[in-house]
Amino acid sequence: MRLFDTHCHLNDNAYLPDLPEVVKRAEAAGVERMLVVGYDLASSRMAVELADEYPQLYAAVGIHPHNAVAFTAEDLTALEQMLTHKKVVALGEIGLDYHYDHSPRKTQQAVFRQLLALADKLGKPVVIHAREAHADLLAILKAGAATYQGVMHCYSGSRELTREYAKLNFYFSVAGPVTFANARRLPEVIKEIPAERLLIETDAPYLTPHPYRGRRNEPAYVALVAKRLAEILGSTPEEVAEQTWQNAHACFGLETLV
Ligand code: NI
Repeated sequence: MRLFDTHCHLNDNAYLPDLPEVVKRAEAAGVERMLVVGYDLASSRMAVELADEYPQLYAAVGIHPHNAVAFTAEDLTALEQMLTHKKVVALGEIGLDYHYDHSPRKTQQAVFRQLLALADKLGKPVVIHAREAHADLLAILKAGAATYQGVMHCYSGSRELTREYAKLNFYFSVAGPVTFANARRLPEVIKEIPAERLLIETDAPYLTPHPYRGRRNEPAYVALVAKRLAEILGSTPEEVAEQTWQNAHACFGLETLV
């Protein structure tokens, strides 16, 4: 069984003490590839460095909506430069977060539009963070040129939203919360996701799956997400692993490496 964790933050300080062991445990669990995702300029640079250091790591570079307020024209140039690296396979995470509102909404929207335009220009997929902002996010995506494709990260939208994003050819990445006992609505939503659009992730160090909830998350635990998805979809963890592995390669343009 081979697994692709399409969203983790091994660039987070939480892994400073033991990153080599974390990567080894991932390998032991069958997690052969991981996408390390940036959320500001420093963490994006760190993601690129890690992708350089470890063959099984790839990088996404971007500005989280929380950090939109600090975004500058120089940052845009720096991201564009990083996106020329061959292991930088996506622009993310980017998006809108109206739950915390750490940056003003108008600023979040303006930065999101600029970053989508950059993705479009470079032909790179986007990794999207959306929280309590789907209406505006969809409107912006639909207004754009929409030649880019992307991933809705840590997806937990409604069935209706799933159909909307599927029409835009987006992928849906499912994370640890699907393993929580109180995740009642999510299984029904997951059944709406087209099989060829399904991805799995940990969002480590956050969102640790059951039964490790409360501890630091790590990519090895993406196997628990695959296992739960198999129960929901009436298939096997091996089938979910292989389908999502293939999907991740298609999404990030890695087909030639399979
Ligand atoms: Ni994340």
